[in-house]
Amino acid sequence: MHVRPHDLAPSDRYKLLIGAVVPRPIAVVSTCDRDGRLNLAPFSFFTAIGADPMTLLFCPANRPDGTAKDSLANARPAAAGGTGAFVVNVAVETIIRRVVATAEPLPPGESEFDLSGLAPAPSLVVEPPRVAESPVAFECRTREIVELNPGAPGGANVVIGDVVAVFVRDDLVNDRFHVDAAGLAAVGRMGGTQYCTTRDRFALPFGRPALGAPDPFGS
Ligand SMILES: Cc1cc2nc3c(=O)[nH]c(=O)nc-3n(C[C@H](O)[C@H](O)[C@H](O)COP(=O)(O)O)c2cc1C
Repeated sequence: MHVRPHDLAPSDRYKLLIGAVVPRPIAVVSTCDRDGRLNLAPFSFFTAIGADPMTLLFCPANRPDGTAKDSLANARPAAAGGTGAFVVNVAVETIIRRVVATAEPLPPGESEFDLSGLAPAPSLVVEPPRVAESPVAFECRTREIVELNPGAPGGANVVIGDVVAVFVRDDLVNDRFHVDAAGLAAVGRMGGTQYCTTRDRFALPFGRPALGAPDPFGS
């Protein structure tokens, strides 16, 4: 198969993306609206951008009716009706069922914190709380939102955040800021309803020396 996106239905483009761009880390994004109502939802179209400035992004697509998901609406700057802030909590093994449950679309006024049983804990800098059960949280102020297809059903959006505080559970980080990957036990998303762990790891040296290292798969 060798195809062009404009020959495919958006749903088929989506299947190619989520099936082949794997595994994707999962951001559990906590936000609040201007009345302080809390919102929580998972996003696997998510990654780090850079360290200077410390930035990351997540991508909330428009709803099927073309309107913004709550996470996008809440993360918008105050001038656009939001609070200009969000917290990315890392999805880990111990909470994965509750994280996935937060994808449930709830009517206004009902919180995914209540639905999932995940608990809000105060953030250091921003208004939205972090998730108490998540061992790592990045508090962000919204730097920029790129709306690639405003108002379109499923239209793509990119929310870029400046990290203004980082929570890491003390037992998972050393004094040189190395994070214990085994202890973190992050979970990734594959296609459809499939997920993966980060338990199977191997090391390779950077660049040319990688060619001289033993093949981790013996192939
Ligand atoms: C593991 C997982 C990852 C998801 N990733 C995304 C994503 O990257 N972008 C997106 O628009 N929706 C994603 N969803 C669906 C949203 O979580 C879902 O639409 C949610 O209701 C949005 O909530 P909100 O309206 O409170 O923002 C994902 C769902 C799950 C279970």
